[in-house]
Amino acid sequence: MAQPFCAARLATILAALARAEPGPVRRQLTPESCLRRTLVAHLPTLTPVASATVVRTDREKAPAKAVRGLRALSLDRAEVEELVGSMSHAGVYRVRLGSADAVLKVTEGDARQRVDARRELSFYLELAGSVPVSTPRLLATADGGQLTALLLSAHTPVAPAARWERCEWLAATRQLARLHAFEVPREDPWVHVPWVRGVLQDPPTDLAIDYWSQTVAAHHIDSLLRDPASLARALDDGPMGFIHGDCHVDNLLRDGDQLIWADWQVAGTGNRAVDLAFLYGRGYADGANPPLEHMLEEYLVDSHVEAAQLLRSMMAAELATLLFGWPTYMTYHTQEERDRMTSRLVQLADSWLS
Ligand SMILES: Nc1ncnc2c1ncn2[C@@H]1O[C@H](COP(=O)(O)OP(=O)(O)O)[C@@H](O)[C@H]1O
Ligand SMILES: [Mg+2]
Repeated sequence: MAQPFCAARLATILAALARAEPGPVRRQLTPESCLRRTLVAHLPTLTPVASATVVRTDREKAPAKAVRGLRALSLDRAEVEELVGSMSHAGVYRVRLGSADAVLKVTEGDARQRVDARRELSFYLELAGSVPVSTPRLLATADGGQLTALLLSAHTPVAPAARWERCEWLAATRQLARLHAFEVPREDPWVHVPWVRGVLQDPPTDLAIDYWSQTVAAHHIDSLLRDPASLARALDDGPMGFIHGDCHVDNLLRDGDQLIWADWQVAGTGNRAVDLAFLYGRGYADGANPPLEHMLEEYLVDSHVEAAQLLRSMMAAELATLLFGWPTYMTYHTQEERDRMTSRLVQLADSWLS
């Protein structure tokens, strides 16, 4: 039977955690062998939150990964619900601590996944307090051994992309422009290659041919498949900035009217167009019609970047994602949605080559 939540016991655990880590919270990543726990904020500041995308699990049947994460945080008395929507190999759970909710993100996985998890941890420890967008608050963390666990304040999911109003796209774009102008040290972990640029180093051309040759896009993409380096060059030309790196509606939450930006695993310096192309492209794939022209106008108001260069990079990012990423992702989509993306590829490929 589930044990009742004991506030006094939780407070004792958290006080002990706090004593174990005196001083301001700065960069506290440690060798793999040493589990380090950090209390960053006080749990009473949590508020209950409504969420439509949860799968209830009994506490006893909580996924083993969540239990390991909670134990690492000395929080093994929480109720656990698995959150749907995690695209990385992390386990993401809503945990109920008495009447308050938090979100637990646990990464075990291989070395690359841990690097991403630790980058997200670094983001919350070092940058979240100063970036010009709102983010979840890091409440506690454990890092070391086989696992990285983040306990974050819980927020409400935003509406699906297809239901977004024009003003919401514009507000997100304005915030993105501010984020991109934020200066980060040009050093590890903020200097890394975004997925869309990395895929162009050794593109899965066979996968792309297998998928796209079955579609009407086949005759529009020959020269792109022969010369993916032209896309890479456009991405290398800039404009550079601090990018979120996985900028799509599912990674946005809200607190009242305030957007809350989550999932910072692949944030870092990169071509700003990557975020814009992904925000637009993922929204489009999910059935939305984001007002692209107005988004660009909005973006350019305060960003001192050259419009033509931004547009060319956006096309390159969207083309690279469609050619080499979507063949895998498309399997999750209906035929109607696939046809829509095929038309988009044709349109982009033709303008790229014109
Ligand atoms: N702080 C949070 N509050 C509420 N829901 C969240 C929170 N963080 C993540 N989620 C939900 O869980 C999903 C997966 O979390 P995310 O951090 O994006 O993991 P992944 O890196 O695996 O994509 C998100 O798309 C969002 O729906
Ligand atoms: Mg995500």
